[in-house]
Amino acid sequence: MTDLAPFIAGLPKAELHLHIEGSLEPELMFELAQRNQVAIPYASVEEVRAAYAFSNLQDFLDIYYAGADVLRTRADFHDLAMAYFVRAAADGVIHAEIMFDPQTHTDRGIAFADVIEGLLSAMSMAEAELGLTSSLILSFLRHLSEEAAFATLEAAQPWIDRIAAVGLDSSEVGHPPEKFARVFAAARAQGLKITAHAGEEGPPEYVHQALDLLQTDRIDHGNRALEDPALVARLAAEGMTLTVCPLSNLKLCVVDDLVDHPLDRMLALGLKATVNSDDPAYFGGYVAENYRAVAEARGLTRNDLVTLARNSFTGSFLPPEAVAANLAKLEAYAAM
Ligand code: HPA
Ligand code: ZN
Repeated sequence: MTDLAPFIAGLPKAELHLHIEGSLEPELMFELAQRNQVAIPYASVEEVRAAYAFSNLQDFLDIYYAGADVLRTRADFHDLAMAYFVRAAADGVIHAEIMFDPQTHTDRGIAFADVIEGLLSAMSMAEAELGLTSSLILSFLRHLSEEAAFATLEAAQPWIDRIAAVGLDSSEVGHPPEKFARVFAAARAQGLKITAHAGEEGPPEYVHQALDLLQTDRIDHGNRALEDPALVARLAAEGMTLTVCPLSNLKLCVVDDLVDHPLDRMLALGLKATVNSDDPAYFGGYVAENYRAVAEARGLTRNDLVTLARNSFTGSFLPPEAVAANLAKLEAYAAM
């Protein structure tokens, strides 16, 4: 088999499913712990990495929220995001739609302003210095209440024009989309796009609810939709983008082995699948490594890879002119 890694690294692509808190590398975690005088329960970077063995989503979330405790200042959020943008640009990412979890920070007494202003300054710098455009997805933590989600949407109001979409993440099972139908309706009324994690661990019913009750523009993960043929037909007919995360699926035991990953089955069923890294510092790879690992495990062709990158642009929340400009870059690359 030819080595697809160089082709993948140069392939212009968008990343649509990335939790910025999940890009906190152990080295930066240590640096910020020191800078902010925060105690962390690890003696070394190696010890942190060794702790990243998960048997399900909750296992991971417990460690992920604990790690985020080192993030305290506007500069910390700037540095976190800038480190991600540098890694993403090296992976051929020309546009990134990054999720952030304000409640993880405001519940620790960090000001919403410090979180978002730090991220926004890194986003401006990434565009100026790396030519990488980006937008923000405000994600609600679904293990918390509807009331807390409304308070978060309220706190976001001064920056609402700088936020592209709202999302829904954290512990899925037991926290169905219907719990947040009203707050998503309020966000939609403000012109925000809608996405939600659904069908990662939760049943196909949660994907139905995300479509019907949240009126999503995308579905994050969506793996378990494959258990419901009528749902698959609906997602295909609606051209609904799925933001699939192969290495995340492997690390969180959504699949036992990448050789069983359903990515190419999704494409064959007419689903608009994309490839993303989710929480790259925790799951062992940024977006290009996700493309590479799943391509190798599933024997994907160059055409498949171009289709996945094309889906990443058409599934983005960019305006049509920007989508067209990014697609032109992709087609020029694919034709070389
Ligand atoms: N699923 C749900 N919540 C999350 C994830 C995920 O993969 N990553 C960060 N928060
Ligand atoms: Zn996710």
